[in-house]
Amino acid sequence: MAYRLRQNCRDAGGYHGGHESFLVDGDVDEREPSSAGVPSAFAEETIPVPFNDEDAIPDIFERHGSEIAAVLTELALGNHGIVLSVEGYHETLRERDDYGSLLIFDEIITGFRVGGLQWAQGKYDIEPDLTMFAKIIGGGFPVGAIGGRAEVMQAFTPTGDVFESGTFNGHLVTMVAGLETLQFAKDHDVYMHINDLSERLRAGLQDIVEEHAPEYTVAGTDSMFKLLFTHDEPETMVDHCSAGCKQRPDCPRFELCPKTGADVAAGETDRWKRIF
Ligand SMILES: Cc1ncc(COP(=O)(O)O)c(C=O)c1O
Repeated sequence: MAYRLRQNCRDAGGYHGGHESFLVDGDVDEREPSSAGVPSAFAEETIPVPFNDEDAIPDIFERHGSEIAAVLTELALGNHGIVLSVEGYHETLRERDDYGSLLIFDEIITGFRVGGLQWAQGKYDIEPDLTMFAKIIGGGFPVGAIGGRAEVMQAFTPTGDVFESGTFNGHLVTMVAGLETLQFAKDHDVYMHINDLSERLRAGLQDIVEEHAPEYTVAGTDSMFKLLFTHDEPETMVDHCSAGCKQRPDCPRFELCPKTGADVAAGETDRWKRIF
């Protein structure tokens, strides 16, 4: 059996798309499809793991290491978040290389948004074996793409045995729109501009929160931002992460900042639904 580890379910906090293999909830001991219509056999092969939980990974590798084909994660949770990783979290995933499993980064939200042209993996200086892209690289058109080390990519057809093809693969209009958009972004420092605006927005939100609702958490990085309706007020507002939670251990909010999707979901109160 080839397991996939991933932080897809709501509690864990990740989302990797509406694909049977990724629509699984639960944990290493008990899991089930998270959507109607997904055969339970898929849940047997995917193990959800909470984001930011460094201890969960070694334990699962000890139990199932040789059967784990890949670990799939985002560098910052984009869907049930935004949640940045605690320092060293992704490095602990990389350390599992000895088991021969691949590390896959889902940069479908973070790609060309966090870290700009070097993506989140460049910003956080960690290299996966494979990377998934979509959204932004299409310049507004539908697209998905994977990339990675030559040795892994060569496993796909036509050079390898892993079948990969599709009607719209390499769709010309999408490719041109995506390339032109990224080229424009590169030539005009678009990332610097929108990141600055976003930083200002998060800092402004933080000022408002500090005054009116110190229990709330401003989250985000680069051009991503969100207000999370967390419940507990920090003891002091002095020296907290500016312009959004950065998971800095010496920040007075550190223990209160959401670390997983479940922490974020716990803030979805009636007020959250009413306002947003
Ligand atoms: C992080 C992440 N991965 C994967 C996906 C799936 O992308 P798509 O809906 O284009 O299949 C999404 C979609 O929102 C996403 O946010």
